[in-house]
Amino acid sequence: MNAPLESAVSTPYQRAVSASKRARFDIDADVLRGRALDQSHKFLPDGLSFAASLDFLLEGERRFMSQVQGRSYANIFGLVERFIAAKVLELGQDHTLGDQAALEALVRFSDEELKHQELFRRVEELAAAGMPAGYRFLPQPNEVARVVLERSTWAVLGLTCHIELFTLAHYKRSIEHDPVVSPLFKDVLLHHWKEESQHAVLDELEWRRIDASASAEERSAGVTDLIALVGAVDGILQLQAAADADYFLSHLERPLTESERSRVSQTFLRAYRYQYIGSGIELTQFPEILFGLVSEADATRIKTALGPLL
Ligand SMILES: [Fe+2]
Ligand SMILES: [Fe+2]
Repeated sequence: MNAPLESAVSTPYQRAVSASKRARFDIDADVLRGRALDQSHKFLPDGLSFAASLDFLLEGERRFMSQVQGRSYANIFGLVERFIAAKVLELGQDHTLGDQAALEALVRFSDEELKHQELFRRVEELAAAGMPAGYRFLPQPNEVARVVLERSTWAVLGLTCHIELFTLAHYKRSIEHDPVVSPLFKDVLLHHWKEESQHAVLDELEWRRIDASASAEERSAGVTDLIALVGAVDGILQLQAAADADYFLSHLERPLTESERSRVSQTFLRAYRYQYIGSGIELTQFPEILFGLVSEADATRIKTALGPLL
């Protein structure tokens, strides 16, 4: 009857549960609706793909570049959601006999990430159906998850919070209002954004909860782990950017010069570093949260490590 009163007394976990119920979608009925990915549309906007910076490419070639990147965008989300779902299930254990709203919020969170993995698998199938053969997505979700989950929960939550915050920023700032992005691709990211909005809140809550019980040494070790994880992310980006540039170049219908080919390769890597590292630092409150938790010496270590990637 009285929403303001209800929100005044509800906890952030209760609000996340209510918002998750409102955002809930079905992959086929609400998102895909039997549609194909139309190859006459871009998948990722220029603000994320940097395709417009390659002035020697023809319009169709820039569109193809955005499609290759969009396909990897879907695959990379499918990949990170593997370790995120695993970590969130583990965090839920801390609440099983405690705050039942927190438990429900985290159960819904991991359930949503399982669904998102399925959603992005379906996007990969739709992309494959309309694109030439030869595309390869190289990183293996379970291998990456094993490497990530060996690190401390503090660091995994930091990385997850970063990922989910830039996901929101990409949709709101670049994708939502882009007139030439594929309507189906946009719908996928709209529905993803609706559920990710709660995840980003929960990441921060859980990260602060874990941080509050960490000693200064544990926190500093968490920073070391987070720096290592960002390095691992960059390794994945280098691998996939090289594979995607090769795939893109091998399907152009005209030869490019050696220097143009090299600019294409550099642009793939620059775009991926922006999408998965730089945009979270530049466009979101992630640095404020992170630097509000760590010591000055650890903040300096983080900035030094990030420098070459931004
Ligand atoms: Fe997700
Ligand atoms: Fe998420």
